[in-house]
Amino acid sequence: MLINYVWRRRLFFLVSLLNSIFVLNAQDTEARINLLLAKMTVDEKIGQLNQLPGDLMTGSEVGKEDLLAQIRSGRVGSVLSHTNFEQKIILQRAAVSESRLGIPLLFGFDVIHGYKTVFPIPLAQAASWDMRAIEEVERIAAREASADGQHWTFSPMVDVSRDPRWGRVMEGAGEDPYLSGKIAEARVRGFQGDDLGQSSTIAACAKHFAGYGFSEAGRDYNTVDMSEQRLREVVLPPFKAAAKVGVATFMNAFNTLNGVPASMNKYLITDILRGEWTWSGLVVSDWNSFGETIVHGAAADDVDAASKCLSAGSDMDMAGGTFQRGLKKALEGKRISMQQLDEAVRRVLRLKYSLGLFDNPFLYLDGERRLKELSQPVYRETARSIAASSMVLLKNQGKILPIRPAAGLKKKIAIVGPMADSKTNKDYMSFWTLGLGMQYYDSTQVVTPAEGLKPVLENMGYEVLVRPVCTAGDCDEKSYAMMIETAREADIIIACVGERGLDCGESKSVASLDLPRNQEGLLRLLGRFGKPVVMVLFNSRPMTFEWASENIPAILVAWQPGFETGNALADVLTGRVNPSGKLPMTFPRKVGQVPIYYNHLRTGRPQASFGMPFTSGYLDVSATPAYPFGHGLSYTEFQYSDITITKPTLEKGESLAASISVTNIGDRIGSEVIQCYTQDLTAEVARPVKELKRFLKITLNPGETKKIQLKISQEDLSYWDNELRFRVDPGKFKLFIGGSSEAVKEADFEVKSIKK
Ligand code: BGC
Repeated sequence: MLINYVWRRRLFFLVSLLNSIFVLNAQDTEARINLLLAKMTVDEKIGQLNQLPGDLMTGSEVGKEDLLAQIRSGRVGSVLSHTNFEQKIILQRAAVSESRLGIPLLFGFDVIHGYKTVFPIPLAQAASWDMRAIEEVERIAAREASADGQHWTFSPMVDVSRDPRWGRVMEGAGEDPYLSGKIAEARVRGFQGDDLGQSSTIAACAKHFAGYGFSEAGRDYNTVDMSEQRLREVVLPPFKAAAKVGVATFMNAFNTLNGVPASMNKYLITDILRGEWTWSGLVVSDWNSFGETIVHGAAADDVDAASKCLSAGSDMDMAGGTFQRGLKKALEGKRISMQQLDEAVRRVLRLKYSLGLFDNPFLYLDGERRLKELSQPVYRETARSIAASSMVLLKNQGKILPIRPAAGLKKKIAIVGPMADSKTNKDYMSFWTLGLGMQYYDSTQVVTPAEGLKPVLENMGYEVLVRPVCTAGDCDEKSYAMMIETAREADIIIACVGERGLDCGESKSVASLDLPRNQEGLLRLLGRFGKPVVMVLFNSRPMTFEWASENIPAILVAWQPGFETGNALADVLTGRVNPSGKLPMTFPRKVGQVPIYYNHLRTGRPQASFGMPFTSGYLDVSATPAYPFGHGLSYTEFQYSDITITKPTLEKGESLAASISVTNIGDRIGSEVIQCYTQDLTAEVARPVKELKRFLKITLNPGETKKIQLKISQEDLSYWDNELRFRVDPGKFKLFIGGSSEAVKEADFEVKSIKK
């Protein structure tokens, strides 16, 4: 076996040498793939489409042995979620030296918000509206993951969602298709860089294609039924953006879309993705989603499921074994053709080539690089800065924040609440921190709010009172009573409340968005002391806290900020960092308002004020959000000039050119996300009240003004009508620019004539 390995290495060396002499181009790669395909048996071809779970799921040595045997027999093309580095070398060696054709394995992994260094959850990162920072986060994640032997991440999740009951909103970029598209591009660039063949880049995966964020009632895996217009205008744009920047892979969604399971949805995969968008990468199933087509009742058995999924355009079977059991019979029964099978195998082999695995299967398994690369301290600086710029200041009545120095006075600050100093349940993170491995998870990596705040506040002259009497999962009446006693002594109270880390993500849907475990009761008691209370919310989704909104003077959404939680929080609460986050998802007043989102269609009876009869609203709650999309305060203030439009009437093909000046009229440096929305007033169908078209994050010194110019093309103003024509109609439009989807300057313009 060893000799065999040595010879294979020599052969690889020879091939690499030849490559460098006759620089390989795409055609050469295709020729090599064809040569390889010609040697492959049907079982080996199906093996390449088979992805099996690694140690994170199977855990045991037995699992490993079984996996090894299957790899040796050429029945595995890829392994997902394998954490143990040395074992990955063993598995790769089995593939390249002990299987008949020596085809290297592809290691896939969910790198969702960091790998070894944990960043804020993706929804939080979206709140930064900072594309450069998001790209940098994924660059670091790719460096760490690739150094640990991973070739492929199942990220970014680009599912737009308007339903915070759905636990997976934490993995996405919120409710807006344009913002989600921009973030999808940044993430793909971050993971893949310019060259997938570099050992520090990994293949990305746009998931879940498509519609998963619209599962009925916010229940995970549930039915999705929607109009073609909504699909085209809201769900597909971020996928299209990812495809355009060259994302290497796509993943199917678990749900049915208009009755057809996404994994066997030919319309989605073949007609739109591969047809209209001319994207040619690999499509992987979600975990057993091929098999689940049978449970949906849309396939009779493995053979039926396998043939339907492959025929629809899906290529690789994640963890389900449906292709293993059904594809050969589907071929024999002429349900699929050899050409279809070959095409899917080609896509797998192509990805392996582009990652450089055929030239060096151990490119990502270099122990020395691993030691140098993982958990570099400098990565934590990025984690800290993006955590701080993700935080959203919802409310700051009486400007009680930032906390100012105690100035020699004997002042006390209490840090209380179940999330003040939690060291369990992956709090301040999520279960999507698999790179740490369940077994390796070490809570000391996380700087808790109390740990981060205490030294900083002490330096500012405060006495800091912390009572780590309980954590989010186990606070009882007694521990609440102790917190109240602690807070009673203080001059300022910081109340850390919210969700546990493990209460979000996949299969974590909820029917109530209220603060869990009587945390509102705690806030009400703290409020009675009449002292300034700052509520810090740790959350994975928009939540509801009407009482707090009315009664607590300062509220900061911290999300789940990752390893640097406490340091980033100290930065924001003390003003070292001026908050600049803006909500990527609307916060409702009550769960019954869901789905609530800013870019809704106009109704025939809009409600101008709460209680107006025969208008579109509720009897018991205002129809407006608690906090709108795009909202977020700063410690300084930004003033917007009026909008200038150079030519408000657009002729055929002309773009709109507009400008606005923004001034920092406060006394400290700050960053503002300038948001630009349009409204189509006279189209052939009802159009949204507002749609985000551009945004820009800028930093201004006190007194500084910047003039912003922007262009919006007629294509940007176009929409899909109900006969699926992408069109812009002549007529009136509005342009809005401001610091949220509500507080905006307005101007009118008109599209006079259009291209036919
Ligand atoms: C999730 C995917 C994930 C996969 C592999 C599935 O349950 O839906 O998003 O990539 O598991 O862990």
